Amino acid sequence: MLDGKHLTLAIETSCDETSAALMAEGRQVLSNVISSQIDIHKAFGGVVPEIASRHHLTNINHVIKTALDEAGASIKDVDLIGVTKGPGLVGALLVGIATAKAFALSTGKPLVGVHHIKGHLSANYIAHPDLEPPFTALVVSGGHTELIRVSGYDSLEYIGGTRDDAAGEAYDKVARVLGLGYPGGPLIDAAAKKGDPHAIGFKRVYLEKDSYDFSFSGIKTGVLNHINTEKQAGRWQGSDQSKNIADIAASFQQAVLEVIVAKSVKAAEEYNDNKETPKLVVAGGVAANSRLRIMLDDACGRRGIELYIPPPVLCTDNAAMIGCAAYYSAKAGKTDGLSLDAYADLSL
Ligand code: KG4
Ligand code: ZN
Repeated sequence: MLDGKHLTLAIETSCDETSAALMAEGRQVLSNVISSQIDIHKAFGGVVPEIASRHHLTNINHVIKTALDEAGASIKDVDLIGVTKGPGLVGALLVGIATAKAFALSTGKPLVGVHHIKGHLSANYIAHPDLEPPFTALVVSGGHTELIRVSGYDSLEYIGGTRDDAAGEAYDKVARVLGLGYPGGPLIDAAAKKGDPHAIGFKRVYLEKDSYDFSFSGIKTGVLNHINTEKQAGRWQGSDQSKNIADIAASFQQAVLEVIVAKSVKAAEEYNDNKETPKLVVAGGVAANSRLRIMLDDACGRRGIELYIPPPVLCTDNAAMIGCAAYYSAKAGKTDGLSLDAYADLSL
């Protein structure tokens, strides 16, 4: 089955998913094992860094063994080791990095530390085998909301991004004030399906004219103010309350997504320096959102932009995307030594 193919073993532990994958020739997924800690962190309403690190430590060897077994490979077959180096929770990242270094040392195979955002983008190379740079990319996750110009596999330029909360962070915070639970994104996605996206006119924050930056920290206050008004008017009980929650969820995500979609399609057109059909490539946990997918599809369809989004399982954190990014870095001659470190913050 392996047929002498180039194999990458990839590890991702930047947040609350312990994941290991085996990739063939960079883009083909042989296995992608994801062990989620969501149920553990749910009780705390968010990810507790120390608990995440401890669970990565408990899970990592088993997750890697399962990834090798599912791919029908042994560690001796592996040609390259890729691991997320940041940004993320430092203690969590260190578990993956220490493990990757141990494999690199014992096998003598090259090691590549991968930028997490580059990993998210690479999910699209897996999902769309013919996709190649250049393109404009939107990364929307729990930690990031960024527009990026990708002119080569290893050549990324920052266009704009959030000045405060990431889109996923806004989803998680609003879900908490609505009492929906954690993680907020999928819960708001589901609640919004029963609500009216135009029921409440939450402020759309576009910032300065022509700015490609975002700001989502104000919308949580908007939601809180709305809830207080409804409570004072006696509309926060029984069926009124459930209708209100659905309308708030739908209206909140409409306000956030309208801005994201408008800026993304504008950037895809403006940064289309090769003058071919513009391409917009979308990645990150929030790219799993059903409403965002519909809105992007609609906006790109109307403006003649080719849209690329991975299936939901490749949108949220996983090691396959890290393996794909590691493959292209190694191909460009960029590998790391055993001094590779973890970085909580890391620019592109
Ligand atoms: O990419 P990811 O797994 O981790 C980071 O790198 O941050 O993204 C997690 C984020 C969380 O904020 C989660 O609420 C959000 O993605 N998310 C969603 C959906 N599924 C996950 N947000 C909106 N709608 C969804 N269906
Ligand atoms: Zn992520």
